[in-house]
Amino acid sequence: MKYQILFTPFKVGQVTVKNRFCMAPMGNSIGFGAKGEFSQNGVDYYVERAKGGVGLIFTGALITDMQVDPFSPVEGLSPLYSPMNFRRTAIALNERVHSYGTKIFPQITMGLGRNYPGLYAPSELPVFFDPNQKSPALTKDEIKKKIDAMVQAAALMKASDFDGVEVHAMHWGYLLDQFALAITNHRTDEYGGSLENRLRAAREIVEGIKQVCGSSFPVTMRLGLKSYIKGLFHASLTGEDEAGRTLEEGVEICKLLESYGYDALNVDAGMYDSFYYAAPPMYQPKGFTLELAKAAKKAVHIPVLAGGSRIDDPALCAKAIEEGEADAIVIGRALLADSQLPKKVESGQIEDIRPCIGCNACMNRAFTTGDALCAVNPTVLREGVYGLNKTVESKKIVVVGGGLAGMEAARVAKMRGHDVSLYEKSDKLGGNLVPGAKHSFKADMQRLIEWYQHELKKLQVPVHLNTGLDADAIKKMNPDVVFLAVGSTPVMLGFKGNDDPRVISCIDALLGKKKVGQRVVIVGGGQVGCEMAYEYAKEGKTVTLVEALDAVLSTGPAVPIMNKMMLNDLLDFHKVKVYTGYTLSSVDKNGVVIKSTKDTPESIEIAADSVIISVGFKPVPTMAKDLYGSGFEVYEMGDGSKVGNVMSAVGDAYEIARSV
Ligand SMILES: Cc1cc2nc3c(=O)[nH]c(=O)nc-3n(C[C@H](O)[C@H](O)[C@H](O)COP(=O)(O)O)c2cc1C
Ligand code: SF4
Repeated sequence: MKYQILFTPFKVGQVTVKNRFCMAPMGNSIGFGAKGEFSQNGVDYYVERAKGGVGLIFTGALITDMQVDPFSPVEGLSPLYSPMNFRRTAIALNERVHSYGTKIFPQITMGLGRNYPGLYAPSELPVFFDPNQKSPALTKDEIKKKIDAMVQAAALMKASDFDGVEVHAMHWGYLLDQFALAITNHRTDEYGGSLENRLRAAREIVEGIKQVCGSSFPVTMRLGLKSYIKGLFHASLTGEDEAGRTLEEGVEICKLLESYGYDALNVDAGMYDSFYYAAPPMYQPKGFTLELAKAAKKAVHIPVLAGGSRIDDPALCAKAIEEGEADAIVIGRALLADSQLPKKVESGQIEDIRPCIGCNACMNRAFTTGDALCAVNPTVLREGVYGLNKTVESKKIVVVGGGLAGMEAARVAKMRGHDVSLYEKSDKLGGNLVPGAKHSFKADMQRLIEWYQHELKKLQVPVHLNTGLDADAIKKMNPDVVFLAVGSTPVMLGFKGNDDPRVISCIDALLGKKKVGQRVVIVGGGQVGCEMAYEYAKEGKTVTLVEALDAVLSTGPAVPIMNKMMLNDLLDFHKVKVYTGYTLSSVDKNGVVIKSTKDTPESIEIAADSVIISVGFKPVPTMAKDLYGSGFEVYEMGDGSKVGNVMSAVGDAYEIARSV
């Protein structure tokens, strides 16, 4: 079998894990009920991944302390709120997970500290999400209470048939990380000062758990091996000038944690302050944490479980195990995108794996609605209630448009047993994903297009390329249902000189339809414009970005905070000249004239060989009104209905196609 090594067992303490795939902890509030129990959504979410073949599941972080941090944003999530409710649902969860031979460790947190307002920290610190507020410092008595809560929670976990417990977390700048980092721990008592003192809470937690649960009950630690910050609130793009945890200190911490009794280390990197290292977007190279894990592995004898950097390529996973960089791979978002990933690797169905595109929409959802929904998988955290049923009556469905929404709708409708045909006017599937996938950092977007092509082929959906349909042609087909997924086109601006050959739409530039010169002016600082600016600057071009609003990335579908932070830092690093509060006035023989949007308009002229217009998209006019009343159902979806993003296109299409 290819990648055989990934299907060999390993041990955490005395617990045997059947393979080298672990599910990363991915917290959410929807998986937990208001009475301190796992909700059915939560149970189904984990069971689905156990069924998908993962060897060890770490649950998302569960709150322990209910006394000291009364304003916890997730205060309802404490298992200690009602141990009986928790135990009842946890045992039911564990029975089901264990049926698949999967082990499960709940992750219990000491607290979130200065990452959120209203919570306590080791020292008085500015709050990440609101620097004007300060997190108050914990007293020694409060620290003890928090440690006691961790120990009590671990005892409840053992009594609920979990296989071990993970301590959250000396990573992402959470409370235990704040204790461990000199930059956030200014205490002068035994919890501050030397590294051993800063790790005292972590030590007392594991000692307390082992005392209460027995030494054979495994305890792991989530640990960031390097912080990647230049200071609080400032990420270090290059990793140099580290003001947080250096890798050397990370390795020292590994040795100390091993000596305290931790049974394995679940390692990653970064803090909220360097969020694009903690939850790396597509601009980061996959597997960058493996180098860090390798250093940890050399220093300790306990297993090192490596994650945190989209390590979802089976070849990369297998190489990491073979070369001794890690004992197991901890996969997060790729298991949201495809819960069956390990099983598909095992059966050699690599092409069947739906790729995670690194967009971080799931993180956005976790922060806003608490459901961690995935852009490419609308069933996350509603696996039990939002699946697909076979249709009772097979309908003739015509799908107009082979972009993301059209492909998803065709896939879902065909899986349900409908008679589906897809018509695309261009010569390929993918719609606006095709130009979108052209960037060097968008390989997974290309994989997503290929995944859809593969799925549609497997399902034997007839795909008619180079076939545009008008209303009459559709009516003649006599369908039962029509899905209009006609997509969007770039908005072009009216300005003096807009017919100049140097003026190009973002789509034409991405598709290489027109050559982009050395001096580029990009008009529009949304995600598309910023990504183009980064790519061209990386290639060595001189790039100017012009945005009418006061900040780039401030319009259009919300860009997740980590992606935003990274793009801003990349533009800065690659010396993209950014003008905010300016609009394009004209293009003439000397270049581009831009004007300030302020009360006293000031003009600037910029020399340019190419002017790329990237000011958003508008729906392609549809023929819906010509089809209504023709005796069949008509649904509009995706960008053709309302310009959105991958999540809205896939979500729309899935919702409609699962219910026709
Ligand atoms: C929605 C979401 C919730 C997360 N919640 C937690 C958590 O509760 N505890 C934790 O240690 N890490 C959490 N993480 C971080 C993941 O465990 C993982 O480190 C991160 O997704 C990067 O790994 P990946 O590239 O394999 O996705 C979360 C990540 C996501 C996407
Ligand atoms: S939302 Fe985006 S980053 Fe998150 S799992 Fe899905 S595809 Fe990956």
